[in-house]
Amino acid sequence: MPLLQNHIAVITGAGSGIGRAIAVGYAREGARVVALDVDADSARQTAKLVSDAGGTVDSFVLDVTDRAACTAMAKQIADTVGPVSILVNNAGIARRNGMTGAPEAVIKDWEDVIAINLTGVFNVTHAFLGSLRANKGRIVNIGSIQSFVHIRQPSSPAYTASKHGVLGFTRALAVELGKEGVRVNAIGPGFIETPLNAATRANNPEAVRLFMEHTPLGRAGKPEDIVGPAIFLACDLSSYVTGSIVMADGGYRAV
Ligand code: NAI
Repeated sequence: MPLLQNHIAVITGAGSGIGRAIAVGYAREGARVVALDVDADSARQTAKLVSDAGGTVDSFVLDVTDRAACTAMAKQIADTVGPVSILVNNAGIARRNGMTGAPEAVIKDWEDVIAINLTGVFNVTHAFLGSLRANKGRIVNIGSIQSFVHIRQPSSPAYTASKHGVLGFTRALAVELGKEGVRVNAIGPGFIETPLNAATRANNPEAVRLFMEHTPLGRAGKPEDIVGPAIFLACDLSSYVTGSIVMADGGYRAV
């Protein structure tokens, strides 16, 4: 039997990169997928990919920074799709201004990154909490190497702070919801080739080279490299795993 049969899985930021790959992978394992993204076209394209592959999928526009919209979306999905048992908090952005950059840029990075990468995770989780608690749900949050360390290759304190926050939030929820059978875990991807870092790959090969030098597997990851861990954390194979982070970073943190 497929690993996610009889589950309804909501994935934020599902219109691109890692979120899209997880949507396709979850559908392959039998989940009914709900692809959410702030960008309507890309969410629709993900839905088409999933349905062309024989999966069951709905897509909706959702900006994770809009708390009222998150609450309304949870109600709409409950009414029109069904009870959600898996939530993947994947939507995220990266900005690369250091703290000593131009003040306007630094402040804007902080506000945008924290609003999407951290408060967005709170907003969506809070909106779907009733359904997840009622269905012994599983929450998978997308963290990062930067849930533990800052990286020298240009990156902002906002991004590192947001991903540290995602890990802290993961642990807090795992502790609070464990007795109810709700499991909450994170994934820490390494350098994964997606639109998020397309500009870095195009314009800063030296940064990529330094990253790979620190990566035992010696290659960048693909979005598909995150799918296995995401399935594992959402299905019963991980029935005694909660409050954890699975690193899918090519070994970066071992060095
Ligand atoms: P991506 O840029 O390919 O996809 C991100 C998606 O999130 C896009 O479809 C975008 O429209 C959506 N999004 C952005 N703001 C949103 C909002 N306010 N509401 C709803 N959706 C929104 O990026 P990628 O690489 O797939 O990133 C996914 C997650 O993985 C992010 O949380 C990122 O921080 C994390 N990550 C990525 C790594 C990488 O090397 N690509 C490494 C570690 C973590």
